[in-house]
Amino acid sequence: MKNTIQTAVVVIPTYNEAKNIGRTIEYLATKTFPPIKNWQLKILVVDGNSPDGTSQVVKVAAKKYKDVYLLTETSKDGIGAAYFKGFKYAIDKLGADFIFEFDSDLQHPPETIPVMLSEAEKGYDYIIGSRKIKGGSNPKGWGFKRVFFSEVGGFTARFIMFFPFKNFWRVTDPTTGLKLTRVKGFVDQFPLTDFKHLYSRSFGYKLQLLFETLKLGAKYKEIPLIFQIRTQGESKIEPQTAKEILLVALKLRWYDEFTQKFLKFGIVGGVGFVINIVGAKIFKNLLITPTSNLSILNGVANAIGSEIAILSNFVFNNIWTFSKEKITNLSQLISKFFAFNLSSIITGIVIPSVVIGILTSIFGDHLFIFQVIAIFGLTVPLNWIVYNRLIWKKKSNP
Ligand code: GDD
Ligand code: MN
Repeated sequence: MKNTIQTAVVVIPTYNEAKNIGRTIEYLATKTFPPIKNWQLKILVVDGNSPDGTSQVVKVAAKKYKDVYLLTETSKDGIGAAYFKGFKYAIDKLGADFIFEFDSDLQHPPETIPVMLSEAEKGYDYIIGSRKIKGGSNPKGWGFKRVFFSEVGGFTARFIMFFPFKNFWRVTDPTTGLKLTRVKGFVDQFPLTDFKHLYSRSFGYKLQLLFETLKLGAKYKEIPLIFQIRTQGESKIEPQTAKEILLVALKLRWYDEFTQKFLKFGIVGGVGFVINIVGAKIFKNLLITPTSNLSILNGVANAIGSEIAILSNFVFNNIWTFSKEKITNLSQLISKFFAFNLSSIITGIVIPSVVIGILTSIFGDHLFIFQVIAIFGLTVPLNWIVYNRLIWKKKSNP
């Protein structure tokens, strides 16, 4: 791909930005773009049919400068929806290789554009402006409320969304509005016309896009963003925006494959536990005779209950929790069930029993507490690891 000039489209959503959009386009077209020689740069304004004449200003600018485009929506539809429409247009009509998300009000310094492009040249897929790293900042004039929401909101979003992924702390500014994203493999993977897929058509979309882009495996880089104060017009952030962003974070967390799998794994395990207890009881009642040796009987009844529980765990995890990795081949089923049995005995009986023994010798007789510690601290995480890494190992992508 060397020597071929790539196209980057700066997508700018607008709603009532007549006072801003003209000077922003002028600044980009006359100051920012000319020194950049190795990229073809275009501006696409997506206007929510602003009543203040924003689109007129864009039309005038489009006559004056080359590669300025206007997409007019039928009405104000949220910044997220505006961006999705803009992405589609930029890909289909403008041949975008990379797409900027950029505000109309010059709160994002245009000087970040060449910096971000040079990171793209280095091979990064996803470059975002962060107010939280060294060299970045929020405007000095921001009130307590906005700073509070920005800090607490950002932290909460990071916590909810990235745990337990390795990207947990890598993203320092998850709600930032300044981004540059590679089209191939990333923006072109989003269902750009399916707004049902968007948890928020408004500002919450940023979190979803971030989450999904990272999940697609984007090589990610943050550059410092000195977020400027808005000098003209009004912010479109609404009082419910913070709540909405939190809701998006929770939905992303809840519907994520990892969460769903873990919940199902928990339910199957819980049901297995009940089956073990109830099964043991039933078999005890079935097998008991006036001459039964109770210690042998209890042991046998528990072993039968456990085995039924292991079978149930295997079957339901196979068809439900790990339905995507379902084992169907008969010989595989047999060998995996054997491995599952063995690992269940090791993680469910041998390891907890040894640990409970050790804990008892150190702390004295607190069997119930030690059982809880052993089950939730050892059996559950160990089973999770064994199931994912061994039994229902993800088929590696071709
Ligand atoms: N078409 C369209 N439709 N454009 C919209 C809409 C909409 O419903 N809502 C907002 N916009 C445009 C605005 O006109 C502006 O150009 C851009 O989207 C960003 O909106 P602002 O109102 O300027 O947002 P902000 O500066 O308060 O918020 C900034 O910081 C947030 C993080 O704190 C933005 O950069 C956000 O993207 C960012 O999440
Ligand atoms: Mn703004």
